[in-house]
Amino acid sequence: MQALSPALAAQIAEARRVTALTGAGMSAESGVPTFRDAQTGLWARYDPAELATPEAFERDPSRVWQWYAWRRELVTRAEPNAGHRALARWARHARVTVVTQNVDGLHQQAGSPEVLELHGNLRRSICSAGCGEQPVGEGEPPPCPRCGAPLRPDVVWFGEMLPEAALNGALAAVEAADIVLSIGTANQVQPAASLPHLARRNGCLVVEVNPEETPLTPEADWSLRGTAAGLLPLLLEAATEQRVQRDE
Ligand code: APR
Repeated sequence: MQALSPALAAQIAEARRVTALTGAGMSAESGVPTFRDAQTGLWARYDPAELATPEAFERDPSRVWQWYAWRRELVTRAEPNAGHRALARWARHARVTVVTQNVDGLHQQAGSPEVLELHGNLRRSICSAGCGEQPVGEGEPPPCPRCGAPLRPDVVWFGEMLPEAALNGALAAVEAADIVLSIGTANQVQPAASLPHLARRNGCLVVEVNPEETPLTPEADWSLRGTAAGLLPLLLEAATEQRVQRDE
């Protein structure tokens, strides 16, 4: 773990508007598998086209429903980690907007007041024919209680549009930020991957937290090699110390 630069700590202490862009790595230390990490990645065992597309659901609704039911079970057993909790605590000192690609609801569970879900939330189920969120009854998948069409997880599948309100909110949060953090994302999936570059173009400070390099690494002002649960509490601690020294 590299030592945190006092300059970075000071910039974090000063920030009034923080936008945190989080990906699957944010929840890795909560025991939720990532998508692309070779040894544990979810996709390593499943072909995305097999499970996370409207066509896959059309072709075999029961298989897709069961895979998401397995992931929902995994996620409901998971707890927010020290990284989720650090982001939630940070919101006491600055406005912190979390823009997440994750569908596990762990940021909300940790207490972050402002969470935008770019890819939905697998704890919610919606009618596949458009009746909106519905309670989950019997069946794999269960029928919509209103129209009888199969229910599906409220997540964005490959080839589907992102929820407009979340995407517009994310763009506004990146435009307004003093600091944009990219945490635990491989920065490979659009449009989420373009958000930190938008921040750079606006002259906003971009900080990456990831044990590996990503396509964002050469662009980031600071690219910290470390994990969400390991580094975020340290970042926050260093910033708090700076604030205390400044206010003395
Ligand atoms: N802390 C921080 N980062 C981590 C950790 C950790 N403990 N463990 C792994 N990482 C990093 C990996 O190095 C990798 O860069 O998290 C990233 C995970 O990348 P992906 O698995 O590709 O996840 P993500 O970038 O969120 O995928 C984006 O792809 O499949 C779609 O919709 C799905 O939302 C997902 C999107």
